Amino acid sequence: MDIINTIDELDKRVVAAQEAGQKIAYVPTMGFLHQGHLSLLKEGRKRGDLLILSIFVNPTQFGEGEDFEDYPRDLQQDSAVAQAAGVDIIFAPTAKEMYPAGYATYVNVEGITETLCGASRPGHFQGVCTVVSKFFNLVQPQVAIFGNKDFQQLTVIKRMVKDLHIPVEIVGVPIFREEDGLAMSSRNLYLQPQQRKQALVLSRSLAQAQELVAQGETDSAVIIAQLKAEIERQPDARIDYIKVCHQLTLKDQEIVDADSVLFLAVYIGTTRLIDNAYLVSD
Ligand code: PAJ
Repeated sequence: MDIINTIDELDKRVVAAQEAGQKIAYVPTMGFLHQGHLSLLKEGRKRGDLLILSIFVNPTQFGEGEDFEDYPRDLQQDSAVAQAAGVDIIFAPTAKEMYPAGYATYVNVEGITETLCGASRPGHFQGVCTVVSKFFNLVQPQVAIFGNKDFQQLTVIKRMVKDLHIPVEIVGVPIFREEDGLAMSSRNLYLQPQQRKQALVLSRSLAQAQELVAQGETDSAVIIAQLKAEIERQPDARIDYIKVCHQLTLKDQEIVDADSVLFLAVYIGTTRLIDNAYLVSD
């Protein structure tokens, strides 16, 4: 496995792979790899001849006062994890390499970025779409793997690829959870032990909502009200949003149907956690 920091060097490897007729599979991350990232790498390993992982804490997707500086970074540990997962190349550029002086171009997907995390984090998806389209141009993958954990991100990337005719297949993989249900996230390490327990309210709420739906409840407002009460019982929890939205349009749904996804964003202390689940099981 090679660790590459420059675009020049990456270009050479991508051209060589293309000349050799290799299929490139790509997993974009911000590093501090956990088992959620590993399931993406496993999927990528299955789908490509050359597996490229990028590790880049992308400054343009963090807002004022967010955790860009504090975001955990450990390239050494990540390299060991990536090697064990069968990654061929880690691309870990510097911010200067990606955004040199004079950088002026941004990618903006409209509509579906204006709700959920897009509403709470203005500019976030512009940063994500910009960096992901730059990586797609650099890595030239036939297939790229994303997690359902960031459901809206996956939906936005699919839209961007379609609208801009980017020749890459986008694959989503299920949310990987800790045994007790907490969705894996690089940000979980911010949680104090007491908060870690309270954080379980997210996955518990998803299960509670699914249970209500299984019992015949279809009114989103009723479901949301129940979850709100449960979440607010946690002393350190502050709700950012609880929403029932259509899986494709991300528009709010008053009545639950087979396309409904429940989205949660909750601060536990200062740590913002997200989670989601379909409400109707197949
Ligand atoms: P990051 O948060 O590092 O996540 C990288 C990928 O891992 C994303 O596709 C995310 O959905 C997936 N992932 C994270 N936790 C997961 C879990 N518990 N189960 C399954 N998949 C999980 O998302 C980003 O980075 C950035 O926005 C990025 C796309 C790299 C652009 O900078």
